[in-house]
Amino acid sequence: MPPSLRLTWDREDRSFEAVEPDAALVARFADRLRDWYNAHDNASMMEGSGVMTRDDVVEFWRDLRASGGRGFLGFVDGRLVGDADLRSIGDGAAEFALMIGPAAEKGRGIGRTLASMIHVFAFRELGLERVFVPPRRDNHRVHALNAFLGYERDESPRARAFADGPDAETFSLAAATFRDKHRAAWREVEVRA
Ligand SMILES: CC(C)(COP(=O)(O)OP(=O)(O)OC[C@H]1O[C@@H](n2cnc3c(N)ncnc32)[C@H](O)[C@@H]1OP(=O)(O)O)[C@@H](O)C(=O)NCCC(=O)NCCS
Repeated sequence: MPPSLRLTWDREDRSFEAVEPDAALVARFADRLRDWYNAHDNASMMEGSGVMTRDDVVEFWRDLRASGGRGFLGFVDGRLVGDADLRSIGDGAAEFALMIGPAAEKGRGIGRTLASMIHVFAFRELGLERVFVPPRRDNHRVHALNAFLGYERDESPRARAFADGPDAETFSLAAATFRDKHRAAWREVEVRA
């Protein structure tokens, strides 16, 4: 199993950190993550059940890691604000998912920054060629975020395989498109073990 990593990026007077949690860090934040996963605004956009338990959260993170996924807890100035992951990694590709948990933290540019950091990791560090997302049609925030990252509509069978249901639209982003659009992130995001 690869070592747990920490991605950092200081920008606009804020310090952003994405940390791959070990079991102890997941346990420390499991209650908070459970409450965020279950909050209606988040669960409805992530196809969540809305009734996850603390044990479900622990199991989700254990399974993600065991299946070769790369999950991160997101912090701003040391404060946990959400999580993000790359799952179904294989054949030069992965699926990306992101949640900024508390309503008060949304719409402040945090999702945009943490998502950029994870994409630097996906393309620059892992060398992936393409990343896929299957957002719900009515998830306006994430559509704006995906457009910012450089995602384009992709209805190919490969992309559709990531859709959770008929309400999901599918998009994908190529490594070169992201690198050309996000040169500062590409240059400045640091990765440490
Ligand atoms: C979707 C999500 C990750 C976005 O993170 P965020 O920190 O709120 O977003 P940001 O502040 O970085 O803004 C990202 C974009 O959304 C836009 N946006 C912010 N609030 C918005 C709103 N209420 N309606 C529409 N667009 C909005 C921003 O203007 C920005 O677009 P721009 O680059 O064109 O200006 C976050 O809202 C979230 O976790 N939602 C619930 C879970 C979810 O939907 N996850 C995605 C599916 S896996």
